[in-house]
Formats: sequence, structure tokens, C-alpha cells
Amino acid sequence: MLLRTLGRTGLRVSEIGFGAWGIGGTWWGGTDDDEGLRALVRAQELGVNFFDTAYVYGDGHSERLIARAFAQTGRRGMVATKVPPKNHQWPAKPVPAEKAFPADWIIACTERSLKNLGADCIDLQQLHVWHDDWTEASGWREAVRTLKADGKIRYFGVSINDYEPENCLKLIRTGWVDAVQVIYNLFEQAPAEQLFPACQEHRVGLIIRVPLDEGSLTGALRPDTVFQQGDFRADYFRGDRLREVCERVKAFDFLIHDEITSLPQAALKFCLSHPAVSTVIPGMRKARHAEANARVSDGRLLAPEELARLKPLAWRRNFYE
Ligand SMILES: NC(=O)c1ccc[n+]([C@@H]2O[C@H](COP(=O)([O-])OP(=O)(O)OC[C@H]3O[C@@H](n4cnc5c(N)ncnc54)[C@H](OP(=O)(O)O)[C@@H]3O)[C@@H](O)[C@H]2O)c1
Repeated sequence: MLLRTLGRTGLRVSEIGFGAWGIGGTWWGGTDDDEGLRALVRAQELGVNFFDTAYVYGDGHSERLIARAFAQTGRRGMVATKVPPKNHQWPAKPVPAEKAFPADWIIACTERSLKNLGADCIDLQQLHVWHDDWTEASGWREAVRTLKADGKIRYFGVSINDYEPENCLKLIRTGWVDAVQVIYNLFEQAPAEQLFPACQEHRVGLIIRVPLDEGSLTGALRPDTVFQQGDFRADYFRGDRLREVCERVKAFDFLIHDEITSLPQAALKFCLSHPAVSTVIPGMRKARHAEANARVSDGRLLAPEELARLKPLAWRRNFYE
């Protein structure tokens, strides 16, 4: 497993990180904790040292499973978790910052996550949504300053609204944010236009979420796939969306050759091929997925001709709506 530096934090994070939404259970139609634990442990064994979670992933369940995995392996990885917005609004709307992230809320949520993680300090605490109108607000700044000074968090980040990669550029320029998290994948290539250069210029760490487009870029979905009861993807891929996605995915077949033998491998390599990227965090609930994904970090990236061929295959849409 190769390591990259998470922006100015200097943290050396694994190229493949662990996306821990799925193991939290909520939204994914329930989960098997034993299998989730095996996935976490296997990932650690294979060199994954960065785990992205959030309080809302099962009301702390995902955070607690990560703590159990660390106890089992006897090794702590680096954890990035998230403070939910107090107004429960996803994605963030331009309401006053105090409605979403008052200082006392950020501090209380951090204490709760510390307990779930069985930790004294969180490596990266993120706000689970962000709106650039909040950049100058004092509440969240006061909380970040206090939490850092008290040694409760090492670094501070935000998770950018779905398909609004520019909606954090103001914040990046202030120097207040150490890392940002964004959707970037074979379909969603827009973050490379302005966000990635801004992160490079200001040495802000870049965490890539949803690299497999919630499963469409795994090659495992078919136009007639029926999702488990409670799996949000029944809605995400509703109507004609699944058929269209499966059709468009075929255009990526040319990436599969030589040592790249599967679509998820190609999709993760696409993300790693941009030098601004610090870590890619595919969601995984199964040990076999942790194994396949960890192996992607082998130093071989997509060729410049392949990247050029991928540009016109970008597809902007928002299936979360
Ligand atoms: N607003 C936010 O801040 C936000 C929003 C979304 C996601 N995230 C973070 O980003 C992470 C990644 O996003 P995501 O989990 O939503 O979507 P994703 O990574 O695009 O896709 C996850 C899906 O891909 C499957 N998968 C993973 N590796 C595979 C492989 N090698 N072969 C076949 N299938 C594979 C998973 O299966 P199994 O689960 O069955 O293993 C799961 O169904 C999340 O876990 C979370 O940490 C943050």
C-alpha cells in the first residue's frame, strides 16, 4: 500500500482509505457486523490506515465498529469522522451558519464521537456538509480553535455538497481547512477543473468519496438489479436510471487490459491518477472488496491517453435528488 500526504497536515495516509458508511447499516439495508469487522481488519492488514466515518452512519455504529477493529488488530488507524448539521439539512442550504453548526453543537458532537471511537483525539474532524456562505461565521471557527487547542481534534475538514465542487473555494483560500472531501469518479470529473488546483495551491488534503458511483462503477449492477429492503440505492437508481447507468458503464471497457482486470480497479485507479488526490475511500462491507481495493495501490496509474479518452465520457447529473 502506497502512502500520500494529506495536504499540509503532513499525515501519511494510505492511497486507498476505508469508506465506512455502509458498515454503519443505515441507508444500506442493514448490515452484518461480523462481515463489516472482517472487512475493516482485512483492510488494516493490507495497509489501509485511513478510515472515513460519521456519527450519522448508524448513530455511532460505524464509529464503534472501527474502534472494535482497532482493538482486534491492536493498531489504531487514522480516523476522519463528521459532525452532522444541527438542522439535519443535506445538502447544505445558505441558511445562517449558526443554524447548522453552532460552536457548542460541534463540540458536543465531537465529544460523542470520541466516546464511540474510544479515542482521546480525532485525527480529522469534518463538518458533514458545507456552504461557502459560512466561511466568515465565527461559531464554527471558535469550535475548531477550541477543539484543536484542547487536543480533541488534530485537523479540520469539510465534506462538500454533492455535485457542487466549487462550493468550498472561499473556505480553502482562508487557510482554515486542512482537508476536503468530494465526489469524484469516472462520471463526475468536474472537481478536477477548479477544486483540485485550489487544493494543490493551498496544500489542502483531498479525500475522494463515492469513487464507485454507489456501485454503478463496480460492474456488479444490472438493469434488473433489485436492491435489498432499505437500501437507498433503490431510489438513487430509480426508474430508467439503472438501465442508463449500465449502458454508459460499458464505455469504460477499454480500461480493462493487462494488469487492470476489473472495472472497480480501473475506477479507483482513475481517481488516484490525479496528483491532487490524497486518498480514495471506496465504501466496503465485505472483506473480499477490501482485498480487491487495497491491491489497487500498486503505483501504476492510468496512461495520459486513457485519461484524455475518459474526459468526454464524464456525465454530470445528481441522482441524490
Ligand atoms: N456526504 C458525505 O460526506 C458522504 C456521502 C457519501 C459517502 N461518503 C463517504 O464515502 C465513502 C464511499 O462512498 P459510498 O460508500 O457511498 O459509495 P462507493 O464507494 O461509490 O460505492 C460503494 C459500493 O461499492 C461496492 N464495492 C466496493 N468495492 C468493491 C469491489 N472491489 N468490487 C465490487 N463492489 C465493490 C460496495 O459493496 P459492499 O458495501 O457490499 O462491500 C458498495 O456497494 C462512504 O463509505 C463514506 O465514507 C461521504
